[in-house]
Amino acid sequence: MKKITIGLLGYGTVGSGVASILTNNRYDINTRTNTDITIKKALVRNLLKERPFSEGIIFTDKPEEIIMDPEIDIVVEVMGGIEPARSLILAALNNGKNVVTANKDLLALHGSELFATAEQNGRDLYFEASVAGGIPIIAALKQSFTANRISSIVGIINGTTNFILSAMTEQGRDFADVLREAQEQGYAEADPTSDIEGLDAGRKLAILSSLAFNTQVSFNDVYAEGISKISPADIQYAEELGCVIKLLAIAKNQEDGLEVRVHPALLPKKHPLATVNGVYNAIFVVGDAVGATMFYGKGAGSLPTGSAVVSDIIQVVRNMAAGSEGQGKSNFYRHYPIKKVEDFTTGYYIRLKVKDEPRVFATIALFFAEAGISFNSIIQKPRSNNNAEIVLVTHPCKEGQLRQALQSLNSYSKLNKIYNVIRLETNGF
Ligand code: NAP
Ligand code: HSE
Repeated sequence: MKKITIGLLGYGTVGSGVASILTNNRYDINTRTNTDITIKKALVRNLLKERPFSEGIIFTDKPEEIIMDPEIDIVVEVMGGIEPARSLILAALNNGKNVVTANKDLLALHGSELFATAEQNGRDLYFEASVAGGIPIIAALKQSFTANRISSIVGIINGTTNFILSAMTEQGRDFADVLREAQEQGYAEADPTSDIEGLDAGRKLAILSSLAFNTQVSFNDVYAEGISKISPADIQYAEELGCVIKLLAIAKNQEDGLEVRVHPALLPKKHPLATVNGVYNAIFVVGDAVGATMFYGKGAGSLPTGSAVVSDIIQVVRNMAAGSEGQGKSNFYRHYPIKKVEDFTTGYYIRLKVKDEPRVFATIALFFAEAGISFNSIIQKPRSNNNAEIVLVTHPCKEGQLRQALQSLNSYSKLNKIYNVIRLETNGF
């Protein structure tokens, strides 16, 4: 049996999951690939820490001992961060190693440089674990959808925010309270900014949309907005409107360009994504031939993410056996313009407090009519001190039109407060 040797850069949550899978499923993996796959070395910072599934692995804090080791065939980067991960992957590729990475932050920022280096060296660079943990969405986009022109991807691709919104919905609790619990339970990181502000989902969406639309989409192209302004009242009104609130990652290929955006949105309860709760992820992909498809599973965690990494290792091993490394490169043959935020088209939910007096609603309706916006539904509830709380739900319009209406509204003397503006996704499902 041929022997393939792995060097891990990192042996934390994901790295130890990879070692666990390669140990526990060794017989099946080796038989399926007709190869003896062994982890030789792992890079860590703390050499004194006890590590699970580490029998036979040499731990080092010197990356060159892995990158320069002539016996190592595949370098698996599961250390995270931008540097030194970027330099180490480049060095590994330039040194003739194939590379597997789980690092979405790095790919979303430096993907083109890394893929170009892999191509120049005729090496593989695989990244299934970078989006939605254990869900095999990258392989599906690279292989299973290639007969299609994909029109849209709508995903719940951040487990932390889905856990928070689900708990707020199910238990009526507020954002800060659930975030605290998510941190205590280890779902949310000590610094949760990247998750709750939509940046993590934005990076993942850049990767998915590049593959889906055969064009280079970078994180800077993605409009990202987080969930920290969502309140229990918004969730309650969404319920009245037959919707749930989710942090959606949306990529649409439209005649005037690509819309790539991450933001909280009201989603009709009948949409399959509306039932995806807790830390689970799901991705809804529409192709012109296949129609609507949905992928569901665990978006993070040691074994789900390890599963994606090991599937990449197995693919690289098969490529090495066939002598076809470096063939699976991304094919960015299209060049679409990225649409500006003002041109996004969605429905809107606007919750506001105004004076409860004659002509007030008529005036508000006029601001929206002047911007060419039509209402879908309206909820009004009397509040104390001669105020009323109003929820306006618009038919789809351009964001630029909404901004015009909000500008007029903001200068209206009878307006007390705009609590929140949330997009409503009914278009294109
Ligand atoms: P982690 O638990 O923090 O593990 C990181 C590992 O890398 C640790 O073993 C750490 O060593 C080592 N390391 C980090 N920087 C190092 C440096 N400069 N020199 C030497 N060793 C270094 O991280 P993780 O959760 O496994 O995540 C790894 C990657 O997978 C990240 O890119 C992440 O975005 C991605 N990912 C993670 C998940 C998930 O569920 N965790 C899901 C999808 C993708 P020590 O152990 O000594 O500290
Ligand atoms: N912080 C990420 C999430 C981990 O909550 O989904 C997986 O990338």
